[in-house]
Amino acid sequence: MKRLMHTCLPTFVFDARAEAERELADEIVALVRTKPETVLGLATGDTPVGVYRDLHRAHVARAVSFARASTFNLDEYLDLARDDPRRFRRWMEAHLFQHIDLPPENAHLPESTSSADDPVTVAERYEAAIRAAGGLDLQVLGIGRNGHLGFNEPGSSRASRTRVVDLHPLTRADAAGVFGGLEHVPKRAITMGVGTIFEAARLRVLAFGARKAEIVRRTLHDPMTSAFVSTFLREHGDVKLFVDREAAAQILDEHRAR
Ligand code: PGA
Repeated sequence: MKRLMHTCLPTFVFDARAEAERELADEIVALVRTKPETVLGLATGDTPVGVYRDLHRAHVARAVSFARASTFNLDEYLDLARDDPRRFRRWMEAHLFQHIDLPPENAHLPESTSSADDPVTVAERYEAAIRAAGGLDLQVLGIGRNGHLGFNEPGSSRASRTRVVDLHPLTRADAAGVFGGLEHVPKRAITMGVGTIFEAARLRVLAFGARKAEIVRRTLHDPMTSAFVSTFLREHGDVKLFVDREAAAQILDEHRAR
């Protein structure tokens, strides 16, 4: 692992993504061991999957218990049936929750569970629940190819709070495979806001693979702009960006050219 010098936010390049995943999982385990009531912010998708695998392993090895921890996920689709397997809650159960001893009532997502739920009220209650839990100690983040954090799509303000959002065309296109066609991808979601995410004490951001090389370069080198929400990350006081060599390719090229 190598720390890049002179970047606007602390950036660490790993030879393989598995090393980055281990580094973050080790940090989370250390945090939960020192503070069993840790409040974790979690993300879904391909990016964090290895971190959850390593947390599962650590739990099996009895290195950590999540019995007093709680979790808040970044986002959830709207307009999917409660038992739809593509809900992020189902994904979290399959990849993490069913493998660890986190009490089910401590695992939160910004979800409406029946058509009678008003999504605006769900979003407001989510903010209140995070506050009541004492705030997020550490938020795990991926970066979308359009720079989104959670479902804070291009144009989201730095001050935005948990709310209902329309999904960006690129986000929906990226999800088309999972849904068996673009026409089946939900159009709306509830996401924590940028302001909500930035209140986490630590932000740990992961980006892997060649398809993230351009957005990683923009995140570090573009002027701050809501057109690429990830450019706001440099404003957080305790943020780290973990990338593999493929995702770092464009920034490594620029560093070499200097
Ligand atoms: P991915 O997406 O993990 O599917 O690459 C990251 C994101 O969109 O935040």
